[in-house]
Amino acid sequence: MRRLRRTRALRELVRETDLRPAHLIQPLFVVAGEGVREPVESMPGVERLSISELVSEAGAVLGAGVKAVILFGIPSEKDELALGAYDDEGVVQMAVRALKEAHPDLVVITDVCLCEYTSHGHCGFVREGEVDNDITLELLAKTAISHAEAGADVVAPSDMMDGRVGAIRGQLDEEGHSDVAILAYSAKYASAFYGPFREAAESTPEFGDRRGYQMDPANAAEAVREARLDLEEGADALMVKPAVPYLDIVRRVKDETGAPVAAYHVSGEYSMIKAAAANGWIDERAAVLETLTAIRRAGADIVITYDATRAAGWLAEGD
Ligand code: PBG
Repeated sequence: MRRLRRTRALRELVRETDLRPAHLIQPLFVVAGEGVREPVESMPGVERLSISELVSEAGAVLGAGVKAVILFGIPSEKDELALGAYDDEGVVQMAVRALKEAHPDLVVITDVCLCEYTSHGHCGFVREGEVDNDITLELLAKTAISHAEAGADVVAPSDMMDGRVGAIRGQLDEEGHSDVAILAYSAKYASAFYGPFREAAESTPEFGDRRGYQMDPANAAEAVREARLDLEEGADALMVKPAVPYLDIVRRVKDETGAPVAAYHVSGEYSMIKAAAANGWIDERAAVLETLTAIRRAGADIVITYDATRAAGWLAEGD
């Protein structure tokens, strides 16, 4: 076996998995205000940006060869109805318009969820202490429509309510947005690895947790059922999240559906590598590129990573 491992050129001839900037999606956090570039303490290298900073950051993303961003909004006010989520003048809606105007070719994906906008931090409308599935569907569909009207290419529901893909698809089609795609967070696990994101988005639930709607980490067959349901309801692409602890799920969902699959290398996965690297315990560049390659090898077409732009730069440099 070693004969084909002798030189870089030989290794490249037989390499089974490729990792290119075009496979990556860069998540970006957008906040209200002007001139804001606020570092997220638990995610070194990640900042919350106001709109003009976001537009210039998107220029750097494109410059590195990454073609897509996924946006998360942090509104200035939160309430029980998540009004900011579907406000036409909301932070994400304004950001989408500005991005599309400055960078028409950038693929703009929006995360569709209520947790960043609700005062209690849950992903839906809370009634008698529980997240009400069907009332939440209406608010999610309104949110997706407002993102589509602003110019989003893809909406990505991350709430894990039942029937949300169908509700969003129906509403998009009814309101003349049949060309807007849905990237469904199909297998989103109730994971400890979202901790740093919740600091960035100020979306830690005030009571309880998300286990009543996000998946149990012990389940795999259920992920395939979720994926199939989302496809039946009209999803264009599926997502597995987190990525590395769930590579078996990435493989199963890919093999059993054949649909485009994205894997989300989430905040906690990102921060673990940064923390080890900052301590000199691990080679950051090598660890990041190995991780992203492994996610692709498991079957992901698309990798969502906070390191997208940086990794694209490393890929351009070569070995
Ligand atoms: C919104 C949402 C979350 C993430 C993406 N969309 C947080 C959550 O479910 O608590 C996590 C992303 C990350 O950790 O990087 N529901």
